[in-house]
Amino acid sequence: MARREPIVIKVEASSRYNITIDSNLNQYAAQAISEKTIVLISDNQVFPIYGKNLIEALEASAKRVFSYIIPAGEKSKSAEQYLNLLRQMVNDGIDRDSAVLALGGGVVGDLAGFVAASYMRGISFYQMPSSLLAMVDASIGGKTAINIPEGKNLVGAFWQPKEVFIDIDFLASLSQKEFKLGAAEHFKHGLIANKDILNDIKDPDFKPSGNKKRLAKMVAKSAAVKAAIVSIDEKEQGKRAFLNLGHNIAHAIEAATNHTVPHGDAVAYGLLFDSFLSYKRGYKDLRAKTIEFLEYLEPISMDIEFDRLEPYLASDKKTKAKIQHFILLEDLEKPIIVNDISPTELKTAWQYLKEIR
Ligand code: GLY
Repeated sequence: MARREPIVIKVEASSRYNITIDSNLNQYAAQAISEKTIVLISDNQVFPIYGKNLIEALEASAKRVFSYIIPAGEKSKSAEQYLNLLRQMVNDGIDRDSAVLALGGGVVGDLAGFVAASYMRGISFYQMPSSLLAMVDASIGGKTAINIPEGKNLVGAFWQPKEVFIDIDFLASLSQKEFKLGAAEHFKHGLIANKDILNDIKDPDFKPSGNKKRLAKMVAKSAAVKAAIVSIDEKEQGKRAFLNLGHNIAHAIEAATNHTVPHGDAVAYGLLFDSFLSYKRGYKDLRAKTIEFLEYLEPISMDIEFDRLEPYLASDKKTKAKIQHFILLEDLEKPIIVNDISPTELKTAWQYLKEIR
């Protein structure tokens, strides 16, 4: 059977690279990676499903593969795990000409990316995302990080991959819930830059077992939004902040609940929160649209008083800035950065959200 042409999206940041989207990408990836020694970093949920075939393809292309498997979950984005990996690499004799290949979701990508960014002052890095969230968002744009007790993602680097291999077959092993956690970021891309994405909510193939060709096109639309934004603002000096739509309240929800609310769920609430703020400022009323997402995404219910969220909204812990920048929507595809949202506006928006849920 003739091989399908992959979809290729270009990122033009400080380095140029491709996001390659297709089914059955192992062999392609093995040939595209130029380095001979590969440090494959994956987790104990993804590796048992996809690791063996990938290693076979890499070895068939004459690569030497060292596989490091970490426990799945956010806890692995720790300084301890990071140091373990670096030390293992030294002990295995990994040199500067080797490459790190991340096979997994956002946690694996962030950790492996920071390992690649810092090992011997930086070695080549490739991403093979396994979750919808990592495919449309985390694997693109070079943000890498680990967590420290003082906060999430406080230590890291911008380190662009040399290529992102999105194997659409990987979606099939996701649960419906895992898929929906990524769908929140997908719809966010729709709101800020491509309203066509918003129609995917009604597409019968927008699910883990959906038609691969259709899914590849849907993922590609979202990856293209992310690629375009990081190409114009790699280091988040301006427009990359648009990707934070829904994220101020999402981060506050996550912090206030000790990260028991998954990121995708928190973002789903955040999209409605920010559309309420936008509407109250006299911009387009997009609440009905975001309520539709909320009904589809089915985030876990929560009952949090505003007082618990306020400390995380009053200032940006990362920068110590007194005012947080919010992303509002003047209309679909028209995000703006606003830095004068008052505590009263925030409280009113939270009350609204609580009533809706
Ligand atoms: N996930 C937001 C960003 O990469 O900037």
